[in-house]
Amino acid sequence: MSNARFPTTRLRRNRRTPWSRKLVAENTLSPADFIWPIFVTEGTKARVPVPSMPGVERLSVDLAAQAAKEAAELGIPVIALFPYTDPSLRSEDGDEALNPDNLVCKAVRAIKQAVPEIGVLCDVALDPYTSHGHDGLLRNDTIVNDATVEVLCRQSLVQAEAGCDIIAPSDMMDGRIGAIREALDARGFAHVQIMAYSAKYASGFYGPFRDAVGSTGALKGDKRTYQMDPANGDEALREAELDIAEGADMIMVKPGMPYLDIVTRIKQTFRVPTFAYQVSGEYSMIMAACQNGWLDPDKVILESLMAFKRAGADGILTYFALDAAKRLKNL
Ligand code: PBG
Repeated sequence: MSNARFPTTRLRRNRRTPWSRKLVAENTLSPADFIWPIFVTEGTKARVPVPSMPGVERLSVDLAAQAAKEAAELGIPVIALFPYTDPSLRSEDGDEALNPDNLVCKAVRAIKQAVPEIGVLCDVALDPYTSHGHDGLLRNDTIVNDATVEVLCRQSLVQAEAGCDIIAPSDMMDGRIGAIREALDARGFAHVQIMAYSAKYASGFYGPFRDAVGSTGALKGDKRTYQMDPANGDEALREAELDIAEGADMIMVKPGMPYLDIVTRIKQTFRVPTFAYQVSGEYSMIMAACQNGWLDPDKVILESLMAFKRAGADGILTYFALDAAKRLKNL
């Protein structure tokens, strides 16, 4: 064997030209992979920048409907709505969550009317509505499970009645997927899908989101008695298994980039539609570095999103959705 012929296998051959790289690409990214989370606020023609999320604004319902139209035109299939609830409407038990005319319900109706072709996803949890900032009912310093689940069922019905297409429970109470499925089915909403935040970790990466929905100052303590411990992986599979058995149509992992191993394990184990949430802190981290000139947005935004596809995600909830869809279309 002469040295001149070594090596015979050269992986660089397939990488030599742009057309060849395109030919052998194992994964693709398209606007159809994105779910775009937006923050809604009261008023009209109101845009309120979220300081800890450069480029993200809270939008009044009329502008949210316009944003949904733009998203649909770019090929984004689903928009996710998060309300900034006025502090005067927050209470110990978060009753505003059950008001059929609350901000999120008004936004769902306006968007479904203006852009019927886009899917609308609503978070189910009490944190935008409670004065203590927790996702459930607080009794004697404890977030109580079963009583919270009953309220979450009613919250889901209120959202489904407003026209929400995908109910996404993010509260991490035990048994809520089965209870919500039953409640929806009993009231004629068998067609409404459930995307379960199955593996939702007690994460520091939600900080900017809590600014955006105005629960930062409010939150008493932390959410570690219901959100998962970042140390655990097997437990995420148990959560996903239960949610699938209880009727979840789609499973979500959250946060995203620090938990790609969980995305891969869930997808490979259960073969169900699996989504990842690139959360507010991940977005802000990338944006802050880009604003400082330390990272190049033209490179890292799509790279960060492709990582989710490679890990096995069927789609990504991302604040970059609109920007990334434009990049993919070279706009
Ligand atoms: C509320 C909820 C949170 C996020 C989505 N739904 C915050 C939390 O659990 O405290 C975070 C999303 C993000 O950080 O982008 N249950």
